[in-house]
Amino acid sequence: MLAVRGVTVRFAGLTALDGVSFTVAPGSVHALIGPNGAGKSTCFNVLSGLCRPVAGTVRLGDTELTRLAPHRIARLGVARTFQNIVTTEGTVADNLMLGRHVLTRAGFTAAALRLPGAVREQRAHRARVREIAELVGLDAHFDTPVTALSYGDRKRVEFARALCLEPDVLLLDEPVAGMNGAERARTARVIGEVRARLGLSVVLVEHDMGLVMRLADEVTVLDFGRPLAHGTPDEVRRHPEVLRAYLGAPTAPEETPVTATDARQGDAP
Ligand SMILES: Nc1ncnc2c1ncn2[C@@H]1O[C@H](COP(=O)(O)OP(=O)(O)OP(=O)(O)O)[C@@H](O)[C@H]1O
Ligand SMILES: [Mg+2]
Repeated sequence: MLAVRGVTVRFAGLTALDGVSFTVAPGSVHALIGPNGAGKSTCFNVLSGLCRPVAGTVRLGDTELTRLAPHRIARLGVARTFQNIVTTEGTVADNLMLGRHVLTRAGFTAAALRLPGAVREQRAHRARVREIAELVGLDAHFDTPVTALSYGDRKRVEFARALCLEPDVLLLDEPVAGMNGAERARTARVIGEVRARLGLSVVLVEHDMGLVMRLADEVTVLDFGRPLAHGTPDEVRRHPEVLRAYLGAPTAPEETPVTATDARQGDAP
């Protein structure tokens, strides 16, 4: 269980997160939604150790993550993707092997010298990495340079690279942003399959409300760094404050869906 309690982050005069609390149940998909600038990525930065909160705690089971360095948090089983594609070189296989880095036992020198133990270990990692590529539908591109892939496939490489850490908790920051309809549907299917097959918890930041409604068990809504609403997708969709934050209307007809307000779709490559 991942428990976020009262997390507050300030940048100079701006309070990016203000007493944010939520709990991610094991094996669940927990969506974190909110308008642009609501603090979603900042929250991921806290969870992954890139940003220290001025108040509040993050616990994974009995372990407090709040003051740990990013690589220690990764080793404890929390993996993430970034909102923007982290530019990559090399093949899909190379990139996924990078994702195994924190799991590698043999030192760099042993690997470079191709000592038998290190070679065996590398072989085992490569076999597992191939399985993960199959799981996310990248097996046909295993030896393809990442730069030759479509945008959707590149986003899936990032997703697969995070999975290569064998996480218990996977943080996905806008996994379908900038994708076309077919790529979105495909990625949604893959996220659902991965969660079912690997039994991990997913924290999902997405502006695509269709995807959130389909995949999430629970939703936490942030607005200007403050927790605005919490509940099942259906409860949140009908919540008057959520409708106001997204649509700017005090009330809205019952059947009005919270539509994707992905204002940054146009930013995507
Ligand atoms: N390193 C930083 N220094 C100063 N301000 C920051 C920093 N990182 C984020 N912010 C500010 O904190 C607020 C929250 O930003 P954040 O990126 O977490 O929002 P978000 O919910 O992820 O938005 P989006 O949907 O656009 O990705 C914004 O006002 C942003 O400008
Ligand atoms: Mg963001």
